[in-house]
Amino acid sequence: MAIQQTEEKIVFSADLMSFINEWQDKRGSLIMILHRLQQEYRYLPTEVLLKLSEVISVPLAKIFGVVTFYHYFKQTKPGKHKIAVCMGTACYLKGAGDLINEFGNLMDVKVDETTEDGQFTLESVRCVGCCGLAPVVMVDDEVYGKLVPDSLPGIVAEYRQNSSEGAE
Ligand code: FES
Repeated sequence: MAIQQTEEKIVFSADLMSFINEWQDKRGSLIMILHRLQQEYRYLPTEVLLKLSEVISVPLAKIFGVVTFYHYFKQTKPGKHKIAVCMGTACYLKGAGDLINEFGNLMDVKVDETTEDGQFTLESVRCVGCCGLAPVVMVDDEVYGKLVPDSLPGIVAEYRQNSSEGAE
C-alpha cells in the first residue's frame, strides 16, 4: 500500500512521493494527485489531505475546495461492496427508482451512504452501457439486469453471506 499510517501520522511511500514530484508542477496536477491518492486509499480522509497540503505546499482549503467540488472524490470510507443502481433513462423508465428505494429500505441507507456494518455503499450512477438489460444494478463489477424489487433481498443476502464466509 502506498500510504501507511503510523501513530496518526500519514507517511507517503517513495512510490507515491515520486508520482507527486512528477506531477507537482504540471497543469491539473492537484486533480491527478487526488485521483492517485483515492486509488491507493479508496477515499480521501482528512489526515491524507493534510499530509498532501504539507507535501505540495498548497493550502488545505484549496484542496478541500477541489475535493468537495467533484462528486467523484469521496471523503467517507466506502463500504466493502458498492451497489450502483443505474438511473440512466432506459433504467429509470423501467423502474430504477423503485430499486433505489427498495435497497434503501433493505439496508437502511440513503444514496451515497454506507451501511452501519460497513458492508455496502449505495450509489446512483448514469448509464452503465447495458440498456438492453434495464433496469440494471452493478454490485462491485457484477452486472444484474432486468431486476424487480423482489430480487433485491436475495442479492444483498448473497453478498452478506460471502462476506461472513470470508471472515471465518
Ligand atoms: S440506462 Fe441503465 S444501462 Fe443504460
